[in-house]
Parts: sequence; C-alpha cells; structure tokens
Amino acid sequence: MRPAVGALLGGIRYSPEKVNMNQAPVATAADAFVVRNVSKVFSGSKRVQALTDINLNLKKGSFTCIVGPSGCGKSTLLRILGELETATTGEVAHNVEVTKVPKSAFVFQEHGVFPWFDVLQNVAFGEHMASVGKKEREANARHWIGEVGLTGFENSYPHQLSGGMRQRIAIARAFATGSPTLLMDEPLGALDAQTRILMQEQLVHLWEAERKTVVLVTHSIEEALLLGDQIVMMSARPGRIKEIIDVPFGRPRNIEVEGTAEFAQMKQSIWESLRDEVQASLKFS
Ligand SMILES: Nc1ncnc2c1ncn2[C@@H]1O[C@H](COP(=O)(O)OP(=O)(O)OP(=O)(O)O)[C@@H](O)[C@H]1O
Ligand SMILES: [Mg+2]
Repeated sequence: MRPAVGALLGGIRYSPEKVNMNQAPVATAADAFVVRNVSKVFSGSKRVQALTDINLNLKKGSFTCIVGPSGCGKSTLLRILGELETATTGEVAHNVEVTKVPKSAFVFQEHGVFPWFDVLQNVAFGEHMASVGKKEREANARHWIGEVGLTGFENSYPHQLSGGMRQRIAIARAFATGSPTLLMDEPLGALDAQTRILMQEQLVHLWEAERKTVVLVTHSIEEALLLGDQIVMMSARPGRIKEIIDVPFGRPRNIEVEGTAEFAQMKQSIWESLRDEVQASLKFS
C-alpha cells in the first residue's frame, strides 16, 4: 500500500486496511447522518449496482466532500442521504431535528432552478413552502442573493443569466431554506475558473459562519481540499468507499492554502489513489 502522505502531513487517511469500512458505524449524538451498509441496485432494462456496502458517519456541522470517478454513485449516495432515493439494502439514520424547514436543501448537478420564476422568486421558493411571511421571505432571499453576488438581478429570469449565475441562484436558495443540512452535487462545476475560485472562498466563509452539515460532490481534488473537513473517496462502480481522508488545514481557511507545499503533496497523493479508480471506470465493458 502507498504511504499515507496525509498522515505524514498531519491529515489522517483511513483506508480499508486501517479501518474496517465494511463495519456498520455506531451512531453518536454528534452525528447528523449515519449510513449503515447501504447498497443500491437500479433494476430497469439493465441492472446496475450503483453502491456497495457504504458505511459512513457525518458529524453535525462538518463539511464532507465526496470524490470519485464518473458513474461511481456519488449522486446516488447524495440522493439517498436526502431521502430522494431509497437504499436497496442498509439504512441511513438522520439525527436532524427540524419542524418548519426541510431536513436537507439540495443544489443539484443541473436543472436546479425554476425557469418560470425570477431570481428573487427562485431563492425565496424553499421558504415559501415552509410558509414564512412574504416580507421576511423576500428580505432573507435578498440577503442570500447578495451573498452569492447576484444583487441587481433579483427580477431577472434564469434564461437571461449565464450558466454560472443560474447555479449561484441554486446555492443561494439552498442557504435561504434554513435547512441544517446542505447536499450539493457539483455545485460549482458549471462556473468559469475565476468565478469558481471566488465561490469556493465564499462557500468556505458561508459555511464557517453557518456551520451547517454540508456534503458536497466534486470532481476537483483542490476544491475538496480547500472546502472539506474530510474527503470521502469512492472507488469505480459498483461504488464503495475507498478512503476517508481528514483534511489537516485549519479554519478559517482561504485560497492561500493552495499555495502551500502541504496542499500540493496532499493533492498529489489523493490524485495517485483516485487515478486508479478513474482508470478502472474507463474500462469499457
Ligand atoms: N435512476 C436511475 N436508473 C438507473 N440507473 C441509474 C439511475 N441513476 C443512476 N444510475 C446508474 O447508477 C450509477 C451511478 O450513477 P450516479 O449518477 O450516482 O454516478 P456519479 O458518481 O454521480 O457520476 P457523475 O460523476 O458522472 O455525475 C451509474 O451507472 C448510473 O448509470
Ligand atoms: Mg453525479
């Protein structure tokens, strides 16, 4: 096995050799989610084993990034966490107490906004469902529109905005719902490189201020290292957890951490492990 560079650098890598990831985790009061032995099979015209034996604890207020090759089940796992999809076997225990707001807010990989609503209506939509008064709802929506840099576009419709701006609407709406958990599926994937860097920094700041439980899927190792407390690396389909890496960088965190030798070494080490999975996922059957 490759040396655990993360461990040498202060971060800790939990690989299957060290921690039995096939063992169902024990829930504690500090956990927002506990995923136990979750497997998912899609059975349609073609049977697809999307997830195999996923075991995971997600601490309340933690920021978890999921990386893995295309098709390894990242979106499926996120949808199961958010109860949009059911596991074929296993279970997800939620330790989230909410009454007026949804347990989880989503930012989807695509199609995350309502084309018939303007920006303000889109961002206020989640709260609308939770029957908050109009004035309060709109004031809160305007606050979050400002936080993602869309002030001035409140009355624009999605088709009048760029793809990156549309994705920022979805991020603002997720925060505006007030849900304690944010489940984000490549929320920054459609943004241009410069906007993406600014939004990454903004996400770090918003999360540090709000301390919601965040699970974010990304294809970018840099993004995972910049944003996350832990990185869950999945293997090629049928998706399993290959490693869980504790990110050693402190908070508050900003983009400058990317310039450190420690960051470069962790990125390289994670990429070496991920590359095997990406290669495996590209073997055509
Ligand atoms: N509703 C569905 N019906 C049938 N198969 C599905 C369905 N959703 C996902 N799959 C299959 O499950 C596997 C995992 O899909 P998923 O979308 O979770 O992957 P992913 O890791 O998010 O990929 P990407 O990085 O490309 O977004 C894929 O083989 C996919 O074809
Ligand atoms: Mg996906």
